[in-house]
Amino acid sequence: MPVILAIESSCDETSASVCINGKIVSNVIVNQTIHEKYGGVVPELASRAHLQNIVPVVDSALKTAKIKLTDVDAFAFTQSPGLIGALLVGAQFAKSLSLALDKHLIAVHHMQAHVLANLIPEDKPDFPFLCLTVSGGHTQIVLCEDYLKMKIIAQTLDDAAGEAFDKSAKLLGLPYPGGPLMDKYAQQGDEKKFIFPEPQIDGLDFSFSGLKTAILYFIQKNEKQNENFIKENLNDICASVQQRIVSILLNKLKKAAEQTGIKNICIAGGVSANSGLRKAFEETGKQLGWKTFIPAFEYCTDNAGMIAITAYYKYLAKDFAEPSISPSARAQWND
Ligand code: KG4
Ligand code: ZN
Repeated sequence: MPVILAIESSCDETSASVCINGKIVSNVIVNQTIHEKYGGVVPELASRAHLQNIVPVVDSALKTAKIKLTDVDAFAFTQSPGLIGALLVGAQFAKSLSLALDKHLIAVHHMQAHVLANLIPEDKPDFPFLCLTVSGGHTQIVLCEDYLKMKIIAQTLDDAAGEAFDKSAKLLGLPYPGGPLMDKYAQQGDEKKFIFPEPQIDGLDFSFSGLKTAILYFIQKNEKQNENFIKENLNDICASVQQRIVSILLNKLKKAAEQTGIKNICIAGGVSANSGLRKAFEETGKQLGWKTFIPAFEYCTDNAGMIAITAYYKYLAKDFAEPSISPSARAQWND
């Protein structure tokens, strides 16, 4: 019955979660609002905010789980990828606790954890499953053969899906992070009003940079004729852009499902919180006879619950880390 305390600090959320025997019993997330005024995450400010937040966040996760630090069997942390200064805060914290209390240390790959967020609820996908992982830094289709056996079968050639949302939103004058705002405005808009091009990329890989350029030209052209064009059409532009991002994602996912013959399909990562994607994903699944899985909202964007559930399976596999381990901004997982 392992008790695991996990910490996530790879970007701009400080989060801690307690997992008892494979069940997430607390998942505390503090968003850093300081970055809003800079239009993006400022790494140095993120590290400082993690330092300020980490003790109260961990305290709160322990309290909610009704356990003490000494009840913990293993301390887990996000080892990679992410902002190095931000990762260091969580890594040092977990390492210090593991050394001081003589408990196991578990290093978790953030992108693997996004995938395994789908194993948090009772109703879990059977292996093998495919997962479309869409976040601010990554866009991947992952073939997951077992708890810790995963292969990336598709990725983005340029921007990630979250970046496509955030950069489009920025062109429309919306603050950072624009993804959730685009989602909000899109809900009131007509997704067929404007047509944006779908990139023609062979194979399963994604590309979003052409879409960004198309939006830029579209705005420039229309603003020449009407300086209030964005304001007057914001909902419809957001709905049309969102529809295109979603169709790019789902067309590749359909292709991957067809090629692999796999019908257990998940989505994960920050962009899987997008209501347009969630709806279209479920509709596609119904049409094609997929069994579909989407994490609850709190496990889509960055959270320590997903780190804790991954650490739980690593604990069962006795996959522990040495205290000398360092975080890495870019390391890929070993499959
Ligand atoms: O997984 P995540 O929290 O952090 C990374 O690992 O990158 O993903 C953050 C990304 C951001 O680009 C954010 O705009 C996007 O997820 N995002 C959304 C929504 N919620 C978060 N994009 C579209 N619609 C949403 N509702
Ligand atoms: Zn993430």
